[in-house]
Amino acid sequence: MTFEIRPARDEEMDQFGLMGAYSYAGAFGDGADNVVRNSHRPEWTLCAFDGPTMATSFAAFPFTVRADGNTLSYAGITAVGTRPEYRRRGLLRQIMTRAFAEERERGQCVAGLWASQAAIYQRYGFAALGACRQYSVDTVDIQFHDGVTGTLAPRRYAAVDALDEIKAVYRAFIEPRFGYLHRAQVMWRDTVMAETDASGPVWCAVVYDDQRPCGYVIYTLRANKVEHAARGQEIVIRDLAWLDADAYRSLWSYLAHHDLVGRVLWENAPVDDPLTEILAEPRMLHHRDAEGTWFRVVDLPEAIRQRGYSGSGSLVVELEPDTLTPWNNGNWRIEASVDGASAEHSRGEADCRMNSRTFSALYSGTRKASDLHHWGLIEGSPEAVRTLDEMFRTEYAPHCPDHY
Ligand SMILES: CC(C)(COP(=O)(O)OP(=O)(O)OC[C@H]1O[C@@H](n2cnc3c(N)ncnc32)[C@H](O)[C@@H]1OP(=O)(O)O)[C@@H](O)C(=O)NCCC(=O)NCCS
Repeated sequence: MTFEIRPARDEEMDQFGLMGAYSYAGAFGDGADNVVRNSHRPEWTLCAFDGPTMATSFAAFPFTVRADGNTLSYAGITAVGTRPEYRRRGLLRQIMTRAFAEERERGQCVAGLWASQAAIYQRYGFAALGACRQYSVDTVDIQFHDGVTGTLAPRRYAAVDALDEIKAVYRAFIEPRFGYLHRAQVMWRDTVMAETDASGPVWCAVVYDDQRPCGYVIYTLRANKVEHAARGQEIVIRDLAWLDADAYRSLWSYLAHHDLVGRVLWENAPVDDPLTEILAEPRMLHHRDAEGTWFRVVDLPEAIRQRGYSGSGSLVVELEPDTLTPWNNGNWRIEASVDGASAEHSRGEADCRMNSRTFSALYSGTRKASDLHHWGLIEGSPEAVRTLDEMFRTEYAPHCPDHY
């Protein structure tokens, strides 16, 4: 049986929506007119067709992602599904192979996704990007060990009314970080600030330094969520950004003042969020780290050139043969510093060797080269490993809080 692999046409987008409805079992709506259909343009898709029937759906949002002070053009892969009757015939592998080549042509040097199952994507060289730290804390347990409470008094808005004020805070917060997406208006409104029957109104508390916003928390507040005779309400944090320590503490002090709230839930905090360090009883956060997004370097020289660096170094890296991104195979002289970076094919002997997946984990700053070396995933001299550690370390823990 031969399949045609191509973007869906306008008139085929209803099929695309129905694929999403079935693959995700209604999580994004049933019927053709659902979130999956309405959030994609035909030109972002790459699907497999058996005659008129869509057998596999696949798409990639053209996102921009932060990379330590710089930006990268990022393919945000989504809506992946093969009809059960067409599974295990290699359709996704064919699409993924072609998608990487097309992403490279389009200048998308990195790709990422939220995985339904990690195993599907690890075989394509995707590695974890950070993790999602989850908190579940009673407001009575939000007390700082040093007793220093925030000094700024937040103002509360219906979230959409605060959008113009807080955009600048989000931009400044993500600017030096790795993995955060540039949010288009539609992402703010349809994801971060989306109101559902279950969530109720979406609120935003903003703190100000003089008149300038310097932190915000976006959240929902619902009654009868916690089995507690006096504190049955629940706050769910959608997003939190802060530009200095006082702003951060002020936002948590504000949340702590919700005396009827028995549980504050935050499911997508970065792993370097300060709360575990400043709370009097950190264990009362019940924190755990869950899987976040998956990330892959598609075009090595472009990804090296476009990333920002806080360290520096120069060495030859050998990337093991990879049939999905063959243009990355071989030896690369990588030079990086705060002033810029380059990667050139090299005939020189390699200082270290790794595969595409390991390189992606290193490049994003999720894993240290020394750890990867200890775990048998990087071969190389201690000096080469130290150079990689220095070169790819990120100022902040990499993270992507946005679902797509
Ligand atoms: C994941 C899915 C799209 C794969 O589609 P497919 O066309 O059957 O994929 P392929 O035949 O190209 O298989 C790709 C590889 O993944 C493997 N694989 C497929 N499904 C898998 C699964 N659920 N778990 C682990 N491995 C899986 C195959 O063995 C194959 O390995 P290989 O390429 O190394 O030989 C399909 O199983 C599906 O629609 N699943 C439900 C929806 C879903 O999970 N979508 C992903 C959302 S992020």
